[in-house]
Amino acid sequence: MDKKTFYITTPIYYPSDKLHIGHSYTTVAADAMARYKRMRGYDVMFLTGTDEHGQKIEDKAKAAGLEPKAYVDNIVVGIKALWKLMNISYDKFIRTTDDYHVKAVQKIFRKLYENGDIYKGVYEGLYCKPCESFWTETQLKDGKCPDCGGEVQKASEEAYFFRLSKYADKLLKHYEENPEFIEPQSRKNEMINNFIKPGLEDLCVSRTSFKWGVPVDFDEGHVVYVWIDALSNYITALGYGSDDDSLYKKYWPADVHLMAKEIVRFHSIIWPAMLMSLGEPLPKKVFGHGWLLLEGGKMSKSKGNVVDPVVLCERYGVDAIRYFLLREIAFGSDGVFSNENLINRINFELANDLGNLLSRTVAMVEKYFGGTIPAEREKTEFDESLISMAKGLKANTESLYDQLLFPNALTDIWKFISRANKYIDETTPWLLAKDESKKTVLANVLYNLCESLRIVSVLINPVMPETSPKIRQQLGLTDEIEWDSAGVFGLKDSYSVQKGEIIFPRIDTEAELKELEKLMPLAKEEEKKSAENIALIGIEDFAKVNLKVVKVLACEPVKKAKKLLKLTVDDGERQDRTIVSGIALWYKPEDLIGRNVIIVDNLKPAVLCGVESQGMILAADAGENDVKVIFADDVPVGSKVR
Ligand code: ME8
Ligand code: MG
Repeated sequence: MDKKTFYITTPIYYPSDKLHIGHSYTTVAADAMARYKRMRGYDVMFLTGTDEHGQKIEDKAKAAGLEPKAYVDNIVVGIKALWKLMNISYDKFIRTTDDYHVKAVQKIFRKLYENGDIYKGVYEGLYCKPCESFWTETQLKDGKCPDCGGEVQKASEEAYFFRLSKYADKLLKHYEENPEFIEPQSRKNEMINNFIKPGLEDLCVSRTSFKWGVPVDFDEGHVVYVWIDALSNYITALGYGSDDDSLYKKYWPADVHLMAKEIVRFHSIIWPAMLMSLGEPLPKKVFGHGWLLLEGGKMSKSKGNVVDPVVLCERYGVDAIRYFLLREIAFGSDGVFSNENLINRINFELANDLGNLLSRTVAMVEKYFGGTIPAEREKTEFDESLISMAKGLKANTESLYDQLLFPNALTDIWKFISRANKYIDETTPWLLAKDESKKTVLANVLYNLCESLRIVSVLINPVMPETSPKIRQQLGLTDEIEWDSAGVFGLKDSYSVQKGEIIFPRIDTEAELKELEKLMPLAKEEEKKSAENIALIGIEDFAKVNLKVVKVLACEPVKKAKKLLKLTVDDGERQDRTIVSGIALWYKPEDLIGRNVIIVDNLKPAVLCGVESQGMILAADAGENDVKVIFADDVPVGSKVR
């Protein structure tokens, strides 16, 4: 018989900033779920990837002086390395720049168009560039983007629209008939009350103001809106719209799309409407977890409080971080990240509760029995309460894992670990050891502790895939981990243990916090560099770049390109040099005419929107949505800058 399938996805992340511990949260949760389902015998497809198109990426690439593809290639290498470090067992990694994806998105767009669900119109609205989102006046928060709090700009362009309005009733009906479609329920109410009930507007689904996207194949100049492109990944990754859609047939519909709350609306409104229009089944569940916050704010680079998962994993071990993440964010709410929080959990829950249980148990088996528990065993009055708790643990964990309630499941497993530690206090093995006639009782006590640890090693395996084998090794277990073995107490005949390393060394909190403080400024610098992809270069590399002061003689907007200005400059040798610059959102021609600016003199000419640019103006990213040209008015025209 064919195995049951399980298809789980994370969002595909923007490869624009360095990923922080918040991104790791979703990926680790999805990974734990995928591992758990594999252990339960499912044929699992676990998809993650990167969302590589859009104006934001195009801008960042330009700022880094790279082609967009080269820019994202670099970052994707880092993202994949992070997932490897964190033991993320994804089955497929999709990049929206993958050829098969681009082709399939074009097909999807065309199909929606041919169905009459996409039509041409003019878009006018308020656009938030970092979020790639258009907002209506009423959706703004204090006049700013409700997602990131950044500035929005009025924008208008000829565009294609998707008839989202047509799907309002169908969506409501689907929510009603499938009460578990959006979880937690609070997010569902938010979708209904804040988005659908006030009236769904048709959605602008193409852009002409930039190039870096999937081209609409029947209308040159239009690229597909990045969210239509991105959401499609969940089916194109399975070969939808390609010659071989066998994976699509096998795994779709997805069992769960996992993400944080801010993008639930895209997944529970736009995505199902697209699928309805395509005539394809809807995913079974859209799960929107809370945010991992950092001292009162959402983590984001722009707020200057990023936490680097690589540093954390290297300092504390991957499993400590995985455990922390899945334990810290309670169902439906936000969690708070602080180094102190993390260290406390490591010290109390991992080093003390779990680590000590293991090391004490193994040490006692070695000390009292030379490593092997004898076969003859006699029960104690404390066994029953330990064993009955152990026996209920598997079913309880299953029901919680199945609902993605990792914090609850881990809390219950740790209650059992505490119970086992208490069993040691109750039975006082060190006293039993003193009395020759109690050897059989002692053997039984240590056997029960080993069994308890064995069960724990199975149940935590999806969350802590490195720790679980370490525990088993010390218990002398060599067989493969099987989920069902967690349901039996008394499975093993005996145990021959093998003392090993301390699985979670205790951390000196005070000293560690001081160390971290020292690391902070360093980490911030590193982050800045790697986010902008700037490797250190030697002076000889810099010498290859000729910088020069020029005077702006004339300046005008470039037709059909909202962001571009065409400048005519005097570079000291000629007075007709043309330079195109993407600064129209921040400067009007009259702001620039007559002023001296710095250009890259020896940049290869490039044609931008039909105009040849012979060089590039230096400008600074002066804030999230601000660009400032570097003026050099008191420097003579033609001067070399170095
Ligand atoms: O939104 N706490 O990508 P993105 C918890 N490309 N989770 C967090 C988090 C935090 N502080 N910060 C990020 C995009 N996340 C789009 C998605 S999907 C078709 C396209 C996680 O790089 C969380 O899962 O901004 C959130 O939804 C996602 O990263 C956003 O990643
Ligand atoms: Mg985001």
